[in-house]
Amino acid sequence: MLSPDFFAAIYLLATILFIFGLKGLSSPKTALTGNRAAMFGMLIAVVATLFNPEVKSYSWIFYGLVGGALIGSITAMKIQMTAMPQLVAALHSFVGLSATLVAIGTYFTHEQEHALNSILCVELGLGAAIGAVTFTGSVVAFGKLQELITSNPLVFKGQHFLNLLIGVGIIGLTIHFVMAPAFIWLALLSGLSLLIGFLLVLPIGGADMPVIVSMLNSYSGWAASATGFTLHNNLLIATGALVGSSGAILSYIMCKAMNRSFISVILGGFGGEAAAAAPKSAQGKTVKSAAPEDVAFVLENSSKVIIVPGYGMAVAQAQHAVKELVQALQAKGIEVKFAIHPVAGRMPGHMNVLLAEAEIPYDIVFEMDEINGEFSTTDVALVLGANDVVNPAAKSDKSSPLYGMPILDVYKAKQIFVSKRSMKAGYAGVDNELFYYDNCSLVFGDAKATIEAIHHALSKD
Ligand code: TAP
Repeated sequence: MLSPDFFAAIYLLATILFIFGLKGLSSPKTALTGNRAAMFGMLIAVVATLFNPEVKSYSWIFYGLVGGALIGSITAMKIQMTAMPQLVAALHSFVGLSATLVAIGTYFTHEQEHALNSILCVELGLGAAIGAVTFTGSVVAFGKLQELITSNPLVFKGQHFLNLLIGVGIIGLTIHFVMAPAFIWLALLSGLSLLIGFLLVLPIGGADMPVIVSMLNSYSGWAASATGFTLHNNLLIATGALVGSSGAILSYIMCKAMNRSFISVILGGFGGEAAAAAPKSAQGKTVKSAAPEDVAFVLENSSKVIIVPGYGMAVAQAQHAVKELVQALQAKGIEVKFAIHPVAGRMPGHMNVLLAEAEIPYDIVFEMDEINGEFSTTDVALVLGANDVVNPAAKSDKSSPLYGMPILDVYKAKQIFVSKRSMKAGYAGVDNELFYYDNCSLVFGDAKATIEAIHHALSKD
């Protein structure tokens, strides 16, 4: 029989591989190796666990493995890149639900054996509560991102007070459960935690959803970690802690990128409320539109171009067409760079992933802080399906929900072209005053068709 030390060594190796995985994912150059390291870590962890002497029967494990592998493979093949955030939210909800179910299951097995002690009850209470909040919070996040429920903040009077009351109730019930471990207390604290999960995410507006998804990611990690304590599984404790802390760090980084305090995000109510109202500075002004041929003409007469991709480039799957346009411009001696806003698109690193997929070289792709100073010396800023992340109201209009969020300073370029299909607002639901600037023209149409038409017009000369 394999000794406990053998399992401990394998789990330690798997944890180290997960850490390498996370480190690798921090840069596009090492992301693939990082992913492989984490996948290998997961493989050895699963295989080792199957040999654990505590496994009494393989039949349920088999159903779970086959069912999970089937659903996972089909989903991975079918999922659109733009739908990744809601998939991630759905997956977090499963982690949360399993943590709660494991806590409830463990309660019953230990109750039968009269083995419920205070430490175990603390673990069960925490696991059930964090799991339940993660579950309902992620279900609401999924609904909002999938547009099954409005992405506008749903706020009502006395909301914060009610949340506080429920929070105090959960803590009180957990203490009661530890002192008198009857199932009713565990059920009640789980029920209240399910409710607070709903109440915490419903008031979050569209613009704050990225932070909430990464925060739920963090919660799902802590829920897994609590389950690890309950099941005496060191790997689950370590992996949960890695997910929990990396999710928390990511939430912090995104809050910083949007210049929002974490507390104000959690308290909710931001984004979406000013839907489609024309910005004050735009009242009475009209937008100019340009044809792809006009854009090609101006591009040809420029020496420096910065391309700003956003969510619309992902929707149009225009990245390959963009690469061809870039090559055509470079062949004409024009300098081309990409400017990436940290929350452009619908998930962290969304634009980097798309540009890497099209094999656009990393050395012409720049983060916001690196490139913002260059717009004033740029002939053309070509905005491809980006909106909120280039909205100057974030700097100048205190009444804008975007106020304070750092933006890409495209408005400083000599000429701006914005590719979009209509006058619809971006994700935060606010109009963009950039479109009314004298140096800005809109190129209406699908981003891929627009880029191909510009490329075609360039090649004709
Ligand atoms: P958005 O502000 O959402 O703007 C997207 C733009 O793309 C819109 O102007 C839309 O206009 C246009 N568009 C959509 N489909 C298009 C197509 N096929 N061809 C051409 N244009 C198209 O995007 P952004 O500037 O990238 O900003 C991201 C926003 O999403 C931020 O508010 C951010 O907080 C939020 N968010 C980010 C994340 C992460 S982590 N990155 C996650 C969730 C939410 P039309 O409809 O008129 O075409």
